[in-house]
Order: sequence, then structure tokens, then C-alpha cells
Amino acid sequence: MENCKEYLSRVLGAALRGCCGLADAEPNVIGASRPEFGDYQANGVMAAAGRCGRKPRELATAVVAALADREGWIASAEVAGPGFINIRLDDRALLARGNEALAQPRALIPPARKRQKVVVDHSSPNLAKEMHVGHIRGTVIGDCLSRVFERLGHEVTRQNHVGDWGTQFGMLIAHLRGRGGDSGALEAELADLEGFYRDAKNRFDSEPEFAARARASVVKLQSGDPEYLAAWRRFIDESLRHCQRIYQRLDVGLTLADLDAESRYNDDLAGIIRELDEKGLLRESEGARCVFPPEFHGKDGEPLPVIVQKSDGGYLYSTTDLAAVKLRAFELKADRSLYVVDARQSLHFQQVFAVARMAGMAPETLSLEHIAYGTIMGQDGKPYKTRTGDAVKLADLLDEAVARALTLVTGKNPGLEEGERRRIAETVGIAAVKYADLSKNRMSDYVFDWATMLSFEGNTAPYLLYACTRIKSLLRRSGDGGRSGGMARLAAPEERALLLKALQLPEVVDVVARECYPNLLCNYLFELAGAFMRFYESCPILTAEAETRDSRLALARLAEEALEQGLGLLGIGTLERM
Ligand code: ARG
Repeated sequence: MENCKEYLSRVLGAALRGCCGLADAEPNVIGASRPEFGDYQANGVMAAAGRCGRKPRELATAVVAALADREGWIASAEVAGPGFINIRLDDRALLARGNEALAQPRALIPPARKRQKVVVDHSSPNLAKEMHVGHIRGTVIGDCLSRVFERLGHEVTRQNHVGDWGTQFGMLIAHLRGRGGDSGALEAELADLEGFYRDAKNRFDSEPEFAARARASVVKLQSGDPEYLAAWRRFIDESLRHCQRIYQRLDVGLTLADLDAESRYNDDLAGIIRELDEKGLLRESEGARCVFPPEFHGKDGEPLPVIVQKSDGGYLYSTTDLAAVKLRAFELKADRSLYVVDARQSLHFQQVFAVARMAGMAPETLSLEHIAYGTIMGQDGKPYKTRTGDAVKLADLLDEAVARALTLVTGKNPGLEEGERRRIAETVGIAAVKYADLSKNRMSDYVFDWATMLSFEGNTAPYLLYACTRIKSLLRRSGDGGRSGGMARLAAPEERALLLKALQLPEVVDVVARECYPNLLCNYLFELAGAFMRFYESCPILTAEAETRDSRLALARLAEEALEQGLGLLGIGTLERM
């Protein structure tokens, strides 16, 4: 089913184009900027009037007169200000759509009209170390976007482009080989990957003999020595197990099948250089082989190279990414290829995309998008670290979140049995961390703060989860859960506001899919929960006479449906009680 915004855009668009004669005029329909303006407003008339040389208000009046509202959704359309059109939807139309969605909850978010193949590169940690706080963003934002695309019926390929190749692994192998031992002992030792890395690094920095062995190990590994490859494999497997445990705990959909490790491309890299050479794009600069995309300049206007092969013959991060672009373009045949990666890698991606276009490694039809995100900061305004200045391990951070959530839940509901409190705390703690991240504009840095993310007030996971439990408890207490009748009337303004909000879920999901900002969905859910709370506080439900009672219960059910589906897209499950 069409959503309200789509319907209005279609109807107003037809009228506008008919009146001004411009085939590409857009009514630009958005939610009303103030409730007293109505439900939606069309802002596009002024621009169209400018282009066809008419007075904006006069054109707006003509558009309103020409509206063909065949399905009867529009209660009123009024010209306002310099040429806006304010629209109020018809209550019966809203009720009909609400009942339709209740009868078929999946229809609340209908599939996209055009099915696309979307690749979502996300999480992608380096396997030499354990996942740390910096990996939250790429992991949960990418997971949310993948869920949104899947829900819209797109074909999604998740790609976990883990860093599993390079000089650090020589050091780790040298350290590993020095220990011998059976695989049981090894596993125990690698349980603390971070500690293992630190020890290896210390030795590398302080023991020249070890450093030499580490360097020799890289050469052995890269030349394919089976013994070194086996040691590397054991290390990688253990490191991946660490990642999978984190993904499971975060309820992130990445599996081992989504691996797109850097090493996967080792055999393709020589071919990438050859291809760039054949296309005449390679230039030598200080012994290194480079491509110079015309759009990149240094401070003084000098052309900026993208190095694809070092003077010693080694390949770079960019070379691997070019090979990965090709796979996504020609084997996965993607329409969109997203890279959910730290904003500090922006230049890297702009360069890789530019070289790929120059070399025909990405067809024009493929949209390459760096979905950049900012840094998580500590209270001191610097990237979030432990007191001793080490990276905060993600596993430890999640443990702490759950421990803090347990205190919170116990304070709120001390009577609950302990096992139950622990289960609730696991959901709340993990949800709090994820939601704190997803609800921020991804382009900004944000300060990591336990107190706000675990608060029951404001735009937080506990607030939303609590709102869900209120609705569920209401429906439980009603006996039939509001299933006996549909929505029949909108007596109070709070009812109407809640219904309209709930029906707007698909509009938000569309924008998130297009622009890849999960915080828009979070804002929406926060407003939806607020609309429910206002409805709940001002409209008697269980004590109302039968018809009103049923109608309000049905509305509560729709609100719950929208909240739950929206939270599901964020990768957050709901609770019966908390
Ligand atoms: N492993 C890289 C890092 O930790 C991120 C990889 C992102 N994806 C990509 N296709 N380059 O910095």
C-alpha cells in the first residue's frame, strides 16, 4: 500500500505538473513543520512558479483546485504564506489505513517498488587485535542498514572486510610459533587476544632477534610457506571466533559466510596492477606505481597520487579495495555498494572510487557510497580509552553495560526473580549501547556516557523498551488484546496524532534506506513512543465504553506493532516486562 506521503506526492505532483506545464516539477511534500499547519505541507510550488513565471500563490491556488483526490484522503488543502500548500488528512482515510495495517502488520512497511542488489561492507575489524569500542559504530550502523534493505525486499550481501593480512601477522606468528604447545593451550592463550598482541608487540620493540624473526615470518607467510600459513590460519580462526561471539551478543547478523577478508584478494592484486597498466593509468613516482585521478590535488594544486604498488613490490589497502570493488560490481552485480567505515578513511574511499571509475572497474550504474561515521569520545573529549590509555575492548564494554543495566532493572523492579532480572538486563544493556550509537547522527562524534544511555528519560533504549512494556501490559490487561474490533473513531486529538505517527513508519524507513541515517528512525520511534504516552495519559482505555475501548485498544496495538517493527530494524528486541 502507498504511504501517506507517497499518495500526496503523487496527487499533488500530477496537479502541479498539469498547472505549470513543467514535466519535472516536484511538489516536495514533507510532514507539516507545525501541527497547526495540518499534517503535511507541499513546499515545491514556489520553485515551479519561479520557473514558469507565475505568481506562486496563484499557482498554488490553481493546484489546489486541480487536485484529483480519487481515494479521498485529503480533508483540506489550503494555500498559505508565499505559496505553500497545507494539507490535512481525512480521519476516515486514516482509520481505514490503520485497520488495513492491523489486519496485515507486514504491510506497514511494504516492499520497495524496485528491488536492488545492495552490498553492505560493515564491521570489518582488523583481526590482529580484539574488537574495541571503535568497532561499535560500523558494526551496528551496518547491521541496521542491512536490516532496513532486507525489510524493503532488496537483495542484501553483507561483507565483513576483515584485515587479516599484512606485517602485524608476521609478528603474531613469530610469537605464536615460539610457544609451541597443543591447540588447547593455544586457545587459552589466545582467549586474551589483546594481551597476546601486546606481548608480541613488546617483544618486537625490545628484542632485535625477535623482530628479525617476525620480519622473516612475514616473508614466509606471503610466499605461502605451509607451516606459516597454518599458524596464521589458527590465529585468524581464533580471532574470528572472538568477533562472532561479539556479533551474537549484539544480535548483529554477520556470519562467517559474510567474510570478505583482505587475503581473499591476494591472487588478484597483480592482475589489478596489470589492468591499470593496460589502460594507461599507471605512472611511476619515486619508484612506486600510482594512479593520478584528476580530481585530487594537494594544497598547492599539485596532483595527488593514489599508490597501488610500493617500490618494493608490495600492494596496499587501496589495491585490495580495487579488487573488492570489482567483485562487488561484476560478481555480486550490485546496484549499490556501501562502505560503512570510519570518516577518517574518507579520502581513501574517494580515491578508490575515482580510480575504479577511471579504470572501468565500477560501471556507472553502480552507486559507490562511503557511509562515514564519526568517533566515539570519552568525557575528556578525546577518543574513548581506558584510564591507562588502552583501547576499550568491546567484550568488556558489553559486560559493563549489562552489569549496569542489572542495577537499573533491580532498582526499578526489585520483586522480580533474579534469572528474569538478568535476562532483562542483558537485553536492556546491549540495547542501550546500540541505541546510544544509532540515535546519533552518524557524521558527528559523540561522547560515550553510561548515565544518559541507561536513563529512562529522553531518547534512549530504556525509555523505548519501557514504552513497549506499557503497551504490552495494557493489551494483556484488556483480556482480548484489542483484537475484537478495529479502530472506529478518533475522538481525542491524541488518538489522531498517534495513528498518524504510526502510519508514518514506512516514510521514515524509505528515507533511511535512501540516505543511510539510522538516527532518523530513532528520532521517529522516540516521537512515536511520546505520542503513545500522551494518548495513554489523556484517553481512558479499559474504563471507556465498549466501542471506544475496542477502538483505543486497536490503536494501542498498531502503535506497538510500529514500535516493535521499528526497533527490530535497529536490531533491538522488545520485552514483556522490565
Ligand atoms: N579493516 C579496515 C580497518 O580496520 C576496514 C575495512 C573497511 N572496508 C573496506 N572495504 N576497506 O580499518
